[in-house]
Amino acid sequence: MAKFFIDGGARLSGEVNVSGAKNSALPIIAASLLTKKQVVLENIPDVHDVRTMIQLAEYLGARVEFKRNVLRIHTPRLRRVAAPYDIVTRMRASYYMLGTLIARNKKAVVAMPGGCAIGPRPVDLHIRGLAALGTRIEIKDGYIHAHAQSIAGNKIDLQGPKGTSVGATINVMLAACGASGTAVISPAAVEPEVVDVANFLNALGVEISGQGSHEIKVRGCSGLDQGVRYRIIPDRIEAGTFAVAAAITGGDLLLKGAAPEHMTGVIEKLIEIGVRVKLNGRGISVNGHGKKNAVNICVAPYPGFPTDMQAQFMALLATVPGTSTIRESIFENRFMQAIELMRMGADITIEGDTAVIDGVRELSGAQVMASDLRASSALVLAGLAASGTTIVRRVYHLDRGYERFAFKLRRLGARIRRGR
Ligand code: EPZ
Repeated sequence: MAKFFIDGGARLSGEVNVSGAKNSALPIIAASLLTKKQVVLENIPDVHDVRTMIQLAEYLGARVEFKRNVLRIHTPRLRRVAAPYDIVTRMRASYYMLGTLIARNKKAVVAMPGGCAIGPRPVDLHIRGLAALGTRIEIKDGYIHAHAQSIAGNKIDLQGPKGTSVGATINVMLAACGASGTAVISPAAVEPEVVDVANFLNALGVEISGQGSHEIKVRGCSGLDQGVRYRIIPDRIEAGTFAVAAAITGGDLLLKGAAPEHMTGVIEKLIEIGVRVKLNGRGISVNGHGKKNAVNICVAPYPGFPTDMQAQFMALLATVPGTSTIRESIFENRFMQAIELMRMGADITIEGDTAVIDGVRELSGAQVMASDLRASSALVLAGLAASGTTIVRRVYHLDRGYERFAFKLRRLGARIRRGR
């Protein structure tokens, strides 16, 4: 199993190209199966989750070509309507095929996704939303079986115990593309990736409005047969991760192509910590020289501080003098990185949904184990700042969502290599 070997202490400097957003690319690839014509997607990150989604699309009947971040996908005819267990367990986002298959075919069978390392991950809102569109849903033998005579344009309530859901908003939007009449999704998630999917669907000829607000209207149409060329938004989480790399190493980076308007929660916290952030026409420059301050972070849905950035900030705050806190209220078990950071000398206490981080003068290199995607990047960031050598095991988690992470870091001066 691949590992990263990191010799810490190098200050990163230079320019890094921000890749396309994984969490937009996955549903937009799934949505490309809605039309019989060819779709060309630009800025698709070459990461394992994207490769898995391509495999699923091909399994269902799409013809796909993926070269230099451009994906051509053409599905004149669906060959199957079932997403098998072995693909869905590899990647939860496979469930986006549920919405697509319902819209295109009125029938779908998708393995029930289980929990995962960051806690239980229910799909009740997806099911409730699809049922409200008139789909009959049955859960049998670990599979969600969905079947609709016709898809109704209804009012879809996506209020859950933790608010609305990114995935359920997108899945219902996809299914509603095949509705007769207008579906009104409320409350809808407002994350930039939801807006990106809606914009893509509009380009495909569906009429969607309200994306970016808490009420999205989808006017369905049957038999989409329009092709489109579409460019995916930049990955705000990858950009944020490199911003933390600059901050934790006292370095100076230009995040080329980053979209600052999608990163206000993260930028505000960096500035509060004492990191200098400047926006220019080419992207975001981040300078981590100088004194840093402890801060309190509360994770929140967009435009708040993203749950997908708290692990990376925990690594940074572990090196900032004073007491910081991070409250994670979206996922129940997303502090897995804390115990590994503690093996590197971090002083962290977990109290319920809150991590209390007392900054230490220096982290020290150790062997650590990655548990999920963002926890993995946090351990790499800690390794960049630590004295000595850090070995991060199970980096396949990282490969799921970061494009050529070690390569990009090396070009900025990091001493990191991949090995066994
Ligand atoms: C998306 O997951 C992202 N994944 C996650 O990114 C991200 O952490 C998350 O949104 C929050 O921003 C993709 O886009 C592929 P949710 P998703 O449904 O859609 C509860 C990463 O590292 N909930 O908005 O699964 C749920 O348990 C990842 O790239 C229900 O109760 O997140 C959570 O507490 C991991 N019932 C909250 O809602 C449901 O049916 C928000 O989850 C669905 C969700």
